[in-house]
Amino acid sequence: MNPPPAAASSSRSSLIAAAADRPADDPIFALNAEAVRRRKAGESILNATLGALMEDDGRLAVMPVVREALAAVDPLRAAAYAPISGEPAFLEAALRDVFGNKPRARHTTTAATPDGTNALHHAIVNFVEPGQALLTTDYHWGPYETLATHTGRRVETFPMFDRAGAFDLDAFERALRDQVARQGRSLVLLNTPCNNPTGYSLDRGEREGLAAIVREVSSRGTVALLIDLAYAHFGGGVASAQLDAFDDLGEGGVLLVAWTVSKAFAQYGARIGALLAAHDSEDERRRIANALSFSCRGTWSNCNHLGMLAITELLSDPRKRVRCEAERGRLIELLAQRVRAFNEHAGRAGLRYPRYEGGFFVTVFTADSAACARRMRELGVYVVPVRGAVRVALCSTPAAEVPRLVEALQQGLAAAGG
Ligand SMILES: Cc1ncc(COP(=O)(O)O)c(C=O)c1O
Repeated sequence: MNPPPAAASSSRSSLIAAAADRPADDPIFALNAEAVRRRKAGESILNATLGALMEDDGRLAVMPVVREALAAVDPLRAAAYAPISGEPAFLEAALRDVFGNKPRARHTTTAATPDGTNALHHAIVNFVEPGQALLTTDYHWGPYETLATHTGRRVETFPMFDRAGAFDLDAFERALRDQVARQGRSLVLLNTPCNNPTGYSLDRGEREGLAAIVREVSSRGTVALLIDLAYAHFGGGVASAQLDAFDDLGEGGVLLVAWTVSKAFAQYGARIGALLAAHDSEDERRRIANALSFSCRGTWSNCNHLGMLAITELLSDPRKRVRCEAERGRLIELLAQRVRAFNEHAGRAGLRYPRYEGGFFVTVFTADSAACARRMRELGVYVVPVRGAVRVALCSTPAAEVPRLVEALQQGLAAAGG
């Protein structure tokens, strides 16, 4: 009888080399799991880690009109495959939600994606060559790196803030020129308004300055400027106003918009979103539309049909739209109260953080974010350490808890040496 095969060595993996040493879990979800475990064990825990808007009592904040719309979709329609690039009525509704009746809407092609994450995915695989880097701010949403690594691309960053705490346009210009000179192209990912993790929203002057730089540099190579609108509704004003400055991005410029229902409809689980690409040339729009459709086929094939039909109804039926705005308005106000409370207490405590007028998160700068977050965990307060700061999720912190949060931040900063 043959001996049984030797047990596989634990150091040998059946995975390809690049996949064999992936981190086990998203660190934010791991911190959240620890916070939840401690709370279940009876401790008083303030969990300011997760990026979902919670009611003051800790339940997920939702919009009833969205639940009703999902329930009202014809099950037979929902059961059928959706078109590869998305339902035409959905694409039109998403386009109008972003651009309203602005002329730009006529020069834009749209593809449905499972939420904002995958809108970013499609931008990366179609506007950055394998091996090349995309460009973003040094403070950015961690999955930008996961998406880039996973698709064989890289991330290069530029300092987000200048010494005065404003968006560092000079640093952006230097980084963009340099990248375009090396790569012949650039995909810039910019999350505004309500940047995750800093909470910062570019003001009109900063958006105009940014556009002028892109216009100039795009005479030397392709510059795809992607505005990640994940938190657009929480930044005050309508999305189209955020994009006005980017109407003209010059010869080699293209405007991309990552649009998602996750935060806008408090519907994180449905995975509904879109990537919009605005370009003046009809030929180029056709090429982009084909490329995006190919990417859809080559990844998820087609999106959640039920969700797309429900969101289309909410965006197109005037009465449901009004209800949506009212229910979303309540959520916006819930968050605004927390932002006001934070500015009041953190301002009084002298914490250092960027201009914060709204949004799910804010970052408080610190010399040692790991030490700061560790001390805060000892006090039962969970925040996410990032490079040079801790990210605080006001979206999951009731206004009444803000004084405890700020007190813990002060103690954390003291432990971190400032
Ligand atoms: C900056 C940013 N962009 C995009 C997303 C995408 O979220 P989703 O894939 O749920 O639309 C998120 C979610 O947290 C985010 O924070």
